[in-house]
Amino acid sequence: MDANPQQVVDRRIGVVGCGQMGAGIAEMCARAGLDVVVVESDADGARRGRTRIEASLARAVRSGRLDEDGAQAVFGRLALTAALDALADRTLVIEAVAEREDVKTGVMAALDRIVTDPDAVLATNTSSIPIMRLATATSRPSQVIGLHFFNPVPVLRLVEIVPSLLTSQATRVRATAFVTETLGKHAVPAPDRAGFVVNTLLIPYLLSAVRMAESGFAPPEDIDAGMVLGCAHPMGPLRLADLIGLDTVQAAAEAMYAEYRDLHFAPPALLLRMVEGGRLGRKTGRGFYEYTAA
Ligand code: 3HC
Repeated sequence: MDANPQQVVDRRIGVVGCGQMGAGIAEMCARAGLDVVVVESDADGARRGRTRIEASLARAVRSGRLDEDGAQAVFGRLALTAALDALADRTLVIEAVAEREDVKTGVMAALDRIVTDPDAVLATNTSSIPIMRLATATSRPSQVIGLHFFNPVPVLRLVEIVPSLLTSQATRVRATAFVTETLGKHAVPAPDRAGFVVNTLLIPYLLSAVRMAESGFAPPEDIDAGMVLGCAHPMGPLRLADLIGLDTVQAAAEAMYAEYRDLHFAPPALLLRMVEGGRLGRKTGRGFYEYTAA
């Protein structure tokens, strides 16, 4: 694999998980003309994933970025299933399951057993778990790399490329070409440290906003208005935390706190209580704000 890395062009893609990140990644791959197999944990999950992708494509059609035929063609390139074995013939698989280390290492180990191409790249969309831990769950750590996308994936151009100490140069080159040339996104290399570049900056900012709301320093609407109207951010930190998912924010914060032992990364009690109570943000219809469509 190290001999001619530039010659490998990945066209058979697998995506594991069809939540908001997996659905966005699968959609982007299919829109780039690739053949995509998406695996969910069960038939219901696969149905929900299909609905998510349909809604996003319908949005693209409504705003004139895609026509009806184009949307149909994208769908034709996507297969949704609950069978992980369907990924056997893939050359690049991106896992985007829940941000839990036990779940992600389980998926990586399963992919290692299932994907038959000995040169296949096994990528992970983890936002904060060290790539090394996921790589060493496989027998091919040189082919494991982090590809960290941003939500909403069809809109945001950045992908962090995160090699572990064991990732080969060929895998880096191939994954970077996939992100920049095939998907047309902007790649930023990031070190294999919990949070990478963006979340190391973003999560303490979101946690500070939660602490402000928790202490009564300012109400959520004012905190958000401050950053939207005063700093031209597209959305305020609490609305953004709702968009990301408060459980994901908590998981990222805990991973960084475990890595750095720095109180900036410690999740505030309000965040923990909201997650325990199922107020996860947009995806459950309620977080710091209420949403009519989850
Ligand atoms: N899926 C697909 N397309 C979407 C979308 C979605 N979920 N949400 C919005 N869009 C598209 C819309 O169709 C629209 O496209 P158009 O201009 O062609 O019509 C465009 O995005 C703008 O959307 P809207 O007009 O509905 O709304 P806004 O202008 O308010 O934009 C937003 C919405 C794109 C979400 C914008 O507010 C934004 O960029 N917010 C910041 C998001 C952000 O910071 N994300 C990073 C999160 S961190 C992360 O993901 C890492 C993780 O590890 C924690």
